[in-house]
Amino acid sequence: MLVIFGASGDLTARKLVPALYSLYVEGQLPEHFVVLGTSRSDMTDADFRNQVVIESDYLKEKLKNSDEAKTKKFAEMFFYQDLGESYDVDYSPLRKRVGQLNDEKRTQGNIMYYLSTPPRLYETIAKNLAEAGLSTQNNGWKRLIVEKPFGYSLETAKALNQGLQEHFKESQIYRIDHYLGKETVQNLLVTRFSNSIFEPLWNRNYIKHIEITNAESVGVEKRGGYYDKSGALRDMFQNHLLQIVSLIVMEPPIGDKAEEIRDEKVKALKSLRVMRDEKILHDHTIRAQYMASNIQGKKVKGYREEEGVDPESTTETYAAIKFYVDNWRWKDIPFYVRTAKRMPTKVTEVVIHFKTPHHQIFKDSGIHNKDNKLIIRIQPDEGILIKFGVKVPGQGFKVERANLDFYYSSLMETHVMEAYERLLLDAMQGDATLYARADEVEAAWEFVDPILDYWQHGKDVRMYGYPSGTWGPKNSDDLIEGEGYWRNPGE
Ligand code: BG6
Repeated sequence: MLVIFGASGDLTARKLVPALYSLYVEGQLPEHFVVLGTSRSDMTDADFRNQVVIESDYLKEKLKNSDEAKTKKFAEMFFYQDLGESYDVDYSPLRKRVGQLNDEKRTQGNIMYYLSTPPRLYETIAKNLAEAGLSTQNNGWKRLIVEKPFGYSLETAKALNQGLQEHFKESQIYRIDHYLGKETVQNLLVTRFSNSIFEPLWNRNYIKHIEITNAESVGVEKRGGYYDKSGALRDMFQNHLLQIVSLIVMEPPIGDKAEEIRDEKVKALKSLRVMRDEKILHDHTIRAQYMASNIQGKKVKGYREEEGVDPESTTETYAAIKFYVDNWRWKDIPFYVRTAKRMPTKVTEVVIHFKTPHHQIFKDSGIHNKDNKLIIRIQPDEGILIKFGVKVPGQGFKVERANLDFYYSSLMETHVMEAYERLLLDAMQGDATLYARADEVEAAWEFVDPILDYWQHGKDVRMYGYPSGTWGPKNSDDLIEGEGYWRNPGE
């Protein structure tokens, strides 16, 4: 059984239900499966089914050619129980309903609680579940899935971990990071550890620097209120991007079990060099906000004019960070990571820049041809691109850059699961590999906290602006100048 807290919210209809529908169609849901929505709203089972299934635009989008009977049958799995005026109430009525459904639908006491509420409620819900006897595992497993943001700082993340662990064991807690559910993010491990053409090169001896770009063309949309308290560093970098970094940086795990992989990721995150010196923080971090602009004839608001955003806000919508990793493999190799809203396009990619051969034989090869690149396209056009030198036909040894390009879409017969599909399925099967462990989240905050602190209290901290629809402030070029320039995908 899946019990969703905050079930009347957007995430349920937008992400969870479409993911469940795909799993249902593919026959991946357990035979006896029930979704029980709960929140403060007063709704009947029928209202809930209508809202998240029958009349949901998100699902309609997905169901272009589906048959009605199937959707109706799917909707019958959904039930609703309201909590009352707050989340901090006695959960006995919920327990009663869970018990009834469990008996009727024979779900064997296995329950996954999905917290899709504001994070300040996580601990309250965990406590009330435990007090109602809904966390004990003597009759079926109980798991707790929590959405991001997981904490607001190192201190709050630690407090939240402790709070949850008072009521649920760590092995019952699944901290979701939807980037880990993306096929291409998981493929980072396979690219590295199943290919002897890459694995031996994956270190400071052959790699010059690493660049990660996460760009979105949208602005903050309707989430100004949330975003203004968060910013790019908390919203994207602390979680999604540092997860990607950890997969690039980590040492080979002993095997593919959850704890084996997570142990190595934690070690990787702990080896990021924490920036404490103001001069380094000043030189290696850049923040900016998008400004009003005209994109293809359409007027676009600046960040400070967005609904829910303070007109004098100092929250960043762009963050670029240069950092180092203090371990044997990566010593002195710079990492450049940037993330932003309102850029020219939506794209996430990792670029591994290799060192040039130590002795240049082909003198007229031209500077651009020297740097081999491995480009891992996380999204869109998921795939891998290798840039390497080839001889230009004709006299002499002129070298040009050629591409070896792989697209996931060429694997036609494979259904590429959406992140939420994969993550829900894993949690149901008790596989926590793609979920973040408490110490992982804390290690990521440990690195991010001093940057946030510097941006808030440091001397001479700048907030740059960039016109919406561009690749960020001019000054971000200075950050990467020593290596050349940022690779702006699609340019
Ligand atoms: C979310 C952030 O976690 O990830 C959003 O809160 C962001 O601000 C989103 O838009 C991006 O996810 P994706 O999968 O579209 O890259």
